[in-house]
Formats: sequence, C-alpha cells, structure tokens
Amino acid sequence: MPTSIDVPFLITHRGGAGHGPENTLAAIRIAKEKSAQWIEFDVQLTQDGYPVLFHDAMLDRTTTGSGRLSDHTLAELKELDAGKYFSEAFAGEQIPTLEEAIKLCAELELGMNIEFKHSEERGQALVAETLKLVAKNWPDHLTPPLYSSYEFSTLAHLRKMDDHVFIGFLVADWEAQYLAMAKALNCYSVHLPISQITDHGVKFIQSAGYKVLTFTINDVDLADKLLKLGVDSIFSDISDLL
Ligand code: G3P
Ligand code: MG
Repeated sequence: MPTSIDVPFLITHRGGAGHGPENTLAAIRIAKEKSAQWIEFDVQLTQDGYPVLFHDAMLDRTTTGSGRLSDHTLAELKELDAGKYFSEAFAGEQIPTLEEAIKLCAELELGMNIEFKHSEERGQALVAETLKLVAKNWPDHLTPPLYSSYEFSTLAHLRKMDDHVFIGFLVADWEAQYLAMAKALNCYSVHLPISQITDHGVKFIQSAGYKVLTFTINDVDLADKLLKLGVDSIFSDISDLL
C-alpha cells in the first residue's frame, strides 16, 4: 500500500450525475469517455447486507421504487429502474452493487472515492463488506481508493480495521474541533461544501497536513477560482468541465 496518493484536480461526482443517472454503471462509463480520472460514488447497505451505489436514504427520487433503500433486499432493488428518472435513454439501468462498480472502475482504470452513506446503524458491516470487496477486486497496480463519510463512527471503525487506507473527513460545515478529529483518524483529506471554502480556511487545513477537496462545482469559472485559491480537488457532476 502506498503511503501517499495522487488525486486529480477534478473528481467526477456521484458516478457522473451530470451526464447520466447518478451512481450507475452507465454514468461511470460515460464519465470515462469524457476523460474522468477519478469517480466519487455513494455506498449503502441493502436489507440483506450488500453494499450498493445509492445516494438518498429513500428510493423515490431516482428510481421506480419507493421507501427506504435499507428496507429492500438486493433482489428487490435489482427489479427497479434507476435510469429513467434521468432520461428515457437510460431506461433499464439498475442500481449497481459496489462489486460491479469496483470491477468497472478497475477495468476502466478510474480512481475511486467511496463515500459511506446512511451508515449510522450498520457502519461496521458496511465498512467490513466494502474492505472485503476492494481486497477481492481492486488490482494492486492501481491507486488505492479514498474513503469518506459524514459519519465519524464509520470512519473510526474503518481506521480500526485498516491502518493504511486513505480517509477523507467529510463535513457539512467547518468547526475548529474537526481538526483534532481528522487527526485522530489520520486522514488524508478534508472534504467541504463550497459554502465553507475561504482562502484562510484552505490554507489553515492544508498547513495542518490535509488536502482540501470541495463540492459540488459545475461552473468552470468557479473551478478556475478554486484552482487559483489552491484547493486540491473539486467534485463535479461534469467530468469534462475543464
Ligand atoms: O463527497 C462529496 C459529496 O459527494 C458529498 O455530498 O450529498 O453529493 O454525497 P453528496
Ligand atoms: Mg457523495
């Protein structure tokens, strides 16, 4: 395992939500065609314990299903259409398993930021399953994944399970105490919404030894400003924004 990783300035957000249905294999394939180097996607557990790519807690916005994803088995979720909400051209697209996504990213040589979602109650199982799937499917010659989450306990469990993984501390708003928490997790990076980015803040976090990543940037002028400000990476729904 390398002791440091090289993350590009632009990371494609939610599998490429700007050019396909978010968190799907179809979007990831298009992202690659549009010159993506790294992909961020959201992962949560099905009722029967499989990690799948999905953002919301509820199925309603992006699929033909309804209710909580975590109340459904993988077999039930595979029956749903996760493409149509974006456009008819993607009808039939399924919710991918994490294993399918890891295999596709490995085949396309795309770096991965795996974000653990809605993991408060089953964070340990989500981490354990994810690490197993990465160990089984991710080739040694590719850059190891960056893992992130809003849920501190999930990241703390991840760190307990593996001393060497790269962790991004994901926060909705910045508080001074977060630096000590990022240190306790031996984080690689801090991930902040754009509303939390200031010149001073970026320098402060970087001088403490962390990369600063921000989301979600779909405007080229803003991306340019952030690059000049010294932000390390942006998450964008649009792989070829730059
Ligand atoms: O990890 C950055 C970003 O993905 C966090 O926001 O809600 O799009 O998962 P969200
Ligand atoms: Mg995310």
